[in-house]
Amino acid sequence: MSLDTISELPALRARIGEWKRAGLRIGFVPTMGNLHAGHHSLVKIARERADRVVASVFVNPTQFGPNEDFARYPRTPEADAEGLREAGCDLLWLPSVETMYPYGAANAVHMRVPGITDVLDGAHRPGHFDGVATVVSRLFNQVQPDVAAFGRKDYQQLAVIRYLVRDLAFPIELLPAPIVREDDGLAMSSRNQYLSPQERATAPVIHRTLLAMQEAAAAGTARAAVETDAGAALTEAGLVVDYAVVRRPDLTEPLDGEGGDRVALIAARLGKTRLIDNLEFSIPR
Ligand code: PAJ
Repeated sequence: MSLDTISELPALRARIGEWKRAGLRIGFVPTMGNLHAGHHSLVKIARERADRVVASVFVNPTQFGPNEDFARYPRTPEADAEGLREAGCDLLWLPSVETMYPYGAANAVHMRVPGITDVLDGAHRPGHFDGVATVVSRLFNQVQPDVAAFGRKDYQQLAVIRYLVRDLAFPIELLPAPIVREDDGLAMSSRNQYLSPQERATAPVIHRTLLAMQEAAAAGTARAAVETDAGAALTEAGLVVDYAVVRRPDLTEPLDGEGGDRVALIAARLGKTRLIDNLEFSIPR
């Protein structure tokens, strides 16, 4: 049996309306496709909290910079539908660019999320999170879910979505999902398949470096030294580092000697591929 797939808004609204009138809770998993076990885990998490799960696949042009990988982003619709069905998804929402942006992407009503989008990936990918907020708002209006699952892999994206949901009063509960990793620690990502075999063998250094950052920070090493050492280890392994930092959960800079929750975050390029990962931990107060 193939997965039920809808690409037109009236049909989506009719289906969601039927479910809502029957009193069913709707779970939602937005994606850009080329799905792996990380995405499938979100479907399972949504499934636990909802009666019906809708996943979307939409490679969103407004969140890619002019020199990024929009055109070559891997598109694997058949495998995606099969994997979603096996994970327990009930409906695939597969809108066209015209359905998502009826006036065209360049003429879209555009979200701008302040503050949190100015740092880290926001600084390295100008406009990226505004594009994410723009498309996620539309997806929320289209699907009207009760709960929506987002991976902790995209730590800053999750923070942006939280801000969006609160600020625009979307009646949606967010379900943050743990990072799913390969056996060697590499966080699963659609972009991993850009890696050459040699780059793939190098990539787990990112997770190892995150673990070393956690250990050093927990041992009381000054943040500047933790970050410098992490950057050096990544550079030594042949990566070009965008950032390797330790932050508070709100992405502000913690003071040395201060206890509390932390997240170590890395973004680095391996050849042409940009990878991100993070590790959450806490330092006793
Ligand atoms: P995409 O990169 O396809 O990711 C879709 C969802 O899967 C995101 O919530 C992401 O955090 C989660 N995810 C990806 N890899 C994961 C992993 N290894 N473990 C756990 N979760 C993982 O993120 C996007 O798409 C887009 O920006 C989107 C939100 C769909 C807006 O276009």
